[in-house]
Amino acid sequence: MPGPGTIEVVPSILSADFARLAEEIAVVASAGVQMIHLDVMDGHFVPNITIGPPVIAKLRKHSDLVFDTHLMISEPDRYAEAFVQAGADNITFHIETTEEPGRLVDRIHALGCTAGITLNPETPVESIRKVAPLCDMVLVMTVRPGFGGQTFMDDAARKVIAVREIVGPNIRVEVDGGIDSETTPIVVSYGADTLVAGNAIFGKPDRRAALAAIQAACAQRLT
Ligand code: DX5
Ligand code: ZN
Repeated sequence: MPGPGTIEVVPSILSADFARLAEEIAVVASAGVQMIHLDVMDGHFVPNITIGPPVIAKLRKHSDLVFDTHLMISEPDRYAEAFVQAGADNITFHIETTEEPGRLVDRIHALGCTAGITLNPETPVESIRKVAPLCDMVLVMTVRPGFGGQTFMDDAARKVIAVREIVGPNIRVEVDGGIDSETTPIVVSYGADTLVAGNAIFGKPDRRAALAAIQAACAQRLT
């Protein structure tokens, strides 16, 4: 994962053409992104099903980008190793899915991956206070997980302010859901430095132009 001090826009493949994933990733890679966000859903923790380790392992052969793997699954401890073996670089799991988050962070680190913790819009920041400093990234969900193209939830996004106070400047704070060129300056002002965008990039015919618009919005100050 890129070191602290930069703002990274991270395209989420959830809104890409799943029949042409390698090409979709190559387009945003050629536009200069460092990371790509892979949404893993199990139809249990969230009401949708996406991809698992076999697809990630195949994509790994086509891309050197940092694979930012967002596990929206029950029992993440059971599957973490399979995702590392498939080629995940960062594994983010939900605080709602495990009793011993610190142990899973240690395990992910021991497997040679960076680790992220995430929380749903309804989950209080207090729940991640202890584990957050052990992680490389905290992901603040700005929609209810499960689907792309949902409306940005400002109340949830404001939790970034409290998370940033807990983790300081050296741990990445990521936001995910409803990020576009309008909401980007808002989340950057709260202290987010890692911005996942699905529909706002892969939902547009010109992915490069859409990405450039969000990157430009990172530098925009709120008036
Ligand atoms: C939602 C996923 C997101 C999704 C965001 O559950 O975790 O990563 O791709 O999509 P947009 O940017 O379309 O809201
Ligand atoms: Zn995600």
